[in-house]
Amino acid sequence: MFRRKPAIEIKSPDQLAVMRQAGLVVARTLAAISEAATPGNTTGSLDELARDVLSDHGATSSFLHYRPHGAIPYPAVICASVNDEVVHGIPGDRVLADGDLLSVDFGAVVDGWHGDAAVSILVGRASAEIAELSRTTEASMWAGLAAARAGNHLTDISHAVEQAIGGRYGVVEEYGGHGIGSRMHMDPHILNYGPPGRGPVLEPGMALAIEPMATLGSAEVMVLADGWTVSTADGSWASHWEHTVAVTEDGPWVLTSLADVRL
Ligand code: MF3
Ligand code: CO
Repeated sequence: MFRRKPAIEIKSPDQLAVMRQAGLVVARTLAAISEAATPGNTTGSLDELARDVLSDHGATSSFLHYRPHGAIPYPAVICASVNDEVVHGIPGDRVLADGDLLSVDFGAVVDGWHGDAAVSILVGRASAEIAELSRTTEASMWAGLAAARAGNHLTDISHAVEQAIGGRYGVVEEYGGHGIGSRMHMDPHILNYGPPGRGPVLEPGMALAIEPMATLGSAEVMVLADGWTVSTADGSWASHWEHTVAVTEDGPWVLTSLADVRL
């Protein structure tokens, strides 16, 4: 077998500037959702809030009707994954409770260019154990983002993420990060674990979504009967964080944060 070299889309500076606009819509939406995710609110109400922010900005959803090969078209604009749900939870009637760990994932399109990010939100008063899981998962995302540097190999990101988790939690292997730009999911796939120094060399103009998922127990996951929701096999709680980052001459540029972050 010959291994096909993944063709990674290279964006011009102007195209990255549009991706930054999409990323800002994502950042503002996730900020609004983080405020609204209080005990008593439903995950469906957060999806409605996200739809409002999209239309306020004249942007569209990356997720709505998204249909990977063979899957049911995705029915919402956010993913809302609660507690033992890891990713791709479908928002609806579920009422958030004090102490829940809610991961919200959101993607927006501006002029054909995508931004994709996720946060884990502590609903009400979280236990110290859950707060630490979320804090460590977020830190592992930042370690991965900092490795999105021209001249590095792709799996330097994977390795940085895994090192930052430090063996303390289960690292989900079935899902990972991805290239992003004129489509939400593009080459390359980005593992959240593994040895450094492998895969393509990163170049200015590449854009990557880096999204670690960590669990308090085993890393095994399963897809629920709705065809989308991914939960842990052992019922342990999970955290998911994601940013879209551009590789630039001047280092990693985080496209989906509210502040203009260059690492
Ligand atoms: N950030 C998620 C991912 O890359 C987006 C899920 S797309 C959805 O997997 F349509 F499934 F929601
Ligand atoms: Co993503």
